Amino acid sequence: MKKIIIDTDTASDDAVALVMALREPALEVLAITAVAGNVTLDLATKNACLAATYADTYLPPIYAGAERPLVRALNTATNVHGEDGMGDMPAGFFKEPATEPQPQRAVDAIIDLIAGGDGDIELVTLGPLTNIALAILQAPEVMKKVPHITMMGGAAFAGNANPTAEFNIWVDAEAADVVFASGIPITMATIEACFGSAKFTPEEIEQLQRSQSEVAHFCADCNRTLIDLNASLLGEPGLDLPDPTAIAILARPELIQGYFTGYARVETAGSALTDGMVVCDRRAPQTVQAMAKGSSLHRHNATVVYEIDGPAFKEYL
Ligand code: BDR
Ligand code: CA
Repeated sequence: MKKIIIDTDTASDDAVALVMALREPALEVLAITAVAGNVTLDLATKNACLAATYADTYLPPIYAGAERPLVRALNTATNVHGEDGMGDMPAGFFKEPATEPQPQRAVDAIIDLIAGGDGDIELVTLGPLTNIALAILQAPEVMKKVPHITMMGGAAFAGNANPTAEFNIWVDAEAADVVFASGIPITMATIEACFGSAKFTPEEIEQLQRSQSEVAHFCADCNRTLIDLNASLLGEPGLDLPDPTAIAILARPELIQGYFTGYARVETAGSALTDGMVVCDRRAPQTVQAMAKGSSLHRHNATVVYEIDGPAFKEYL
């Protein structure tokens, strides 16, 4: 069983990802840590408690973390996920969460858990990387014990926050760069991974809504705003679920169909076209060294997943 900590700016697709992870027998979720991103920290923490409740398996401790990015002002995505992050369903629609956040701060909880582990606790990140960067800055030696990060973040070809940057990276580009520079190996479920055949069609959404399962209804209902956005603004009815692809490629790596590797860092001084872009140097390290005098040799730190087996992903979810 893989031990993981999930860091999340819990809104609608994060909620589905949390449900998946808590219902996946191959994963043991040791903690859920919340971060500001899609919504403010308070809402992200509350929504994490709600999603864990609906998963209806076990309730890991949930911790609140950073209220804002390291340097920048917070940009939320309530236009995508609803003012409450959970589809703006009527008051009282969802049940009350059966758990509440722990008093300890998320960054300290992450450091304590990793310090107490045997180098076998992985991270899964579904939001901006503020908490993880703060943990690395606060306890660099401890965080070297993290063997791997599975991240929903980055764009392989085209961003959703600007032409090149994906939302989670763009919201706190400085934090993301701290994480990429740390040397911890990262597998990125990019924004492209949830498109194409991985996107739920209107018929498949209906199937979830018709199901007798309470958790299936929850997963569809909390995404109401995102479903509406797909139908109206984007003109492509259906439902794209970025964060669940991260859980899927962690638990079922055989679903990965398209990826490349490279040395990835984040553009923090870019223009409106490139701010928050993950730049992945795909050249072999020896080529970089041979071509640029004095350049340092960087091993590839990132596996960039841009395509998964869509039908198998949806069946798994
Ligand atoms: C990512 O940003 C948020 O809107 C989603 O929760 C996902 O983590 C997609 O760019
Ligand atoms: Ca998210």
